[in-house]
Amino acid sequence: MSVQPPSETTASAPIKRLTVPNLIKRKQAGEPLVTLTAYTAPMARLLDPHCELLLVGDSMGMALYGMDSTLGVTIDMIINHGRAVVRGSKRALVALDMPFGSFEASKQVAFTNAARMLSETGAQAVKLEGGKEMAETVHFLVERGIPVIGHVGLRPQSVHVIGGYAAQGRDEDAWEPIIEDAKAIEAAGAFATVVEGVAEPLAAKITESVNNVVIGIGASAACDGQILVTEDMLGLFDWAPRFVKHYASLGPTISDAVARYADDVRARRFPSTDETYKMRRPKK
Ligand code: KIV
Repeated sequence: MSVQPPSETTASAPIKRLTVPNLIKRKQAGEPLVTLTAYTAPMARLLDPHCELLLVGDSMGMALYGMDSTLGVTIDMIINHGRAVVRGSKRALVALDMPFGSFEASKQVAFTNAARMLSETGAQAVKLEGGKEMAETVHFLVERGIPVIGHVGLRPQSVHVIGGYAAQGRDEDAWEPIIEDAKAIEAAGAFATVVEGVAEPLAAKITESVNNVVIGIGASAACDGQILVTEDMLGLFDWAPRFVKHYASLGPTISDAVARYADDVRARRFPSTDETYKMRRPKK
C-alpha cells in the first residue's frame, strides 16, 4: 500500500505548489520529505504527485548526458531542463542545482547566476555545494530573496580534490568539519541541506544538530527527507552506487522492448494495419 502525500489543498481548490515554509513545517511535524531528481517534463509529470521537491540536479551530466562527472554541466543546461521540469509539475517545489563554476568566484556572481536561473525557469530555489566557505554566499542570496539548499559531505563537484566519490566521515575524527559545514550553512539561512555520502551515524548526528531540513542521499533514514537520482532508482543503468535502492529495472525493460521492436521491423511485422493509415474513400 502506498502512503498518500498529505494535501495542502481542499478537494475543490486548484493544486498549489509547495513552498519553502510548507517544507519547513513538514520537518517540524516530523513528516519525511520525498524528493527526487527530474530533468524532463514527462518525468516531472510522473514524479510530481509523489514528491515534495524535485531537484534539477547537475547529476544530469552523468545520468542524461553521459559525462563522467558533473563538472561539464552549464547554467544553460540547468535552465533548459529547469523550464521543462517546471512545465511538467504542479505541486512539488522545484529546485535548481548551481553548476560548477557558477557560484564560487564571488557572492555577487552567485546572485547574478541564481537570479537568472530562477527568473528564466520559474523554479523556487537553488542548491549549491559547499560548507563553511560558502556560508557568506548563502547568506547573500537568502538576504536577497533566493531560497538556498546547501550540500555537504560528499560533494561531487569537488571530485578532483577528494580523488573520487568515496563516502565521507567513516572515521569519527573526520566528523567535526562536516558537522561544522552543515551548521554554517544553516546559520547562513539555507532552508535545507543535502547531506550526501556520509557514514549513517554522522548523517543522523547532523540531522539532530541543525534546525533546517536535512535531505539525505547515501546518508540515514533519520534525515528529514531522502533524495535519489531518479534514473538510478528506476534501474536504468548497469551500475549504481551502494546507497541506491532499485525500485524498478527499467534498463532491462527498455532493452527488451527495443529488441522486440527491432525483430518486428526486420520481419516487416511493424507497422501492421493497426498502425498505418488507410486511404479515404473517393468522394462521389
Ligand atoms: O546533482 C544532483 O542530482 C544532486 C543530488 C543527487 C543530491 O546533487
